Amino acid sequence: MKHIIYQGDALERTKEIDGGSLHLTVTSPPYYNAKEYHQEDNNVGNNETYQDYLDKIKILVKILFEKTCVGGIVVWNTSPVIHEGKRFMIPEDSHNIFIEEGFECRDNITWKKPDGAAKLRCGGWCQNGGKPLTWHPNIVDEKIMVYKKPGTRAVGEYDDISKYYNPKPKDLLTNIWMINPETNTHWHDAPFPDELVQRCILLYTFKGDTVFDPFLGSGTTMKVARLLGRNSIGCELSPDYLKLAKEKLGFYQTALFSEEIYEVK
Ligand SMILES: C[S@@+](CC[C@H](N)C(=O)[O-])C[C@H]1O[C@@H](n2cnc3c(N)ncnc32)[C@H](O)[C@@H]1O
Repeated sequence: MKHIIYQGDALERTKEIDGGSLHLTVTSPPYYNAKEYHQEDNNVGNNETYQDYLDKIKILVKILFEKTCVGGIVVWNTSPVIHEGKRFMIPEDSHNIFIEEGFECRDNITWKKPDGAAKLRCGGWCQNGGKPLTWHPNIVDEKIMVYKKPGTRAVGEYDDISKYYNPKPKDLLTNIWMINPETNTHWHDAPFPDELVQRCILLYTFKGDTVFDPFLGSGTTMKVARLLGRNSIGCELSPDYLKLAKEKLGFYQTALFSEEIYEVK
């Protein structure tokens, strides 16, 4: 299997990927200006306005449409954010962009985190004696939106999902996935839980397919893709995260994983 990391701005570097070569993208972009790691000018999380953010998302979605194979899938994980006291509905606004660019909406999944995982926002309820207009909910969900490039793709080899889940988790029958967030933030501030990526890869790809993450962060998507026998491609802007991703992926252990080919571009 081959694993390629592009260093730099996904809005530019991913143009180099062969058209129609991606079977699945699993990604989580920066959520508007929500985190403090957005210092670089071309960081998708560093914006003057919300419209600037959506314009960047549109550029990327256009590229994803071209690079995804017919019948291929994009899994887009986002959540609404509060910025300067206002709520910005990133999943809904991104959804409109995906449809405008030609994708079909295939699945809409809610990722439900344990109640205790939420940042406490219990303004009115607990702290202000239930005073109206002060309440904000603690947020325990994110959206996992699934888009398909129209058409039918070739079927490949696969393992029955029971090989990985026995018994099958009940939530996997529904569109509300109960997954604990990744608590180990040694690698990244906001890493994917491996379980979320594993489900997407098992449900939407065959063995030997190519899985992509344009916002690679600490490399979770590529790591899980490699473990499941898929090729992987990632792109990341931050040199610090790139270093961690390479470590997580085993780029420095070629003797141990000699059957894998690693490339940095
Ligand atoms: C939400 S994090 C992704 C975390 C990742 N899913 C993981 O498991 O570690 C978003 C990432 O996008 C990166 N990023 C932001 N703007 C970018 C750009 N223009 N090109 C490539 N990566 C970018 C950030 O550095 C950050 O690591």
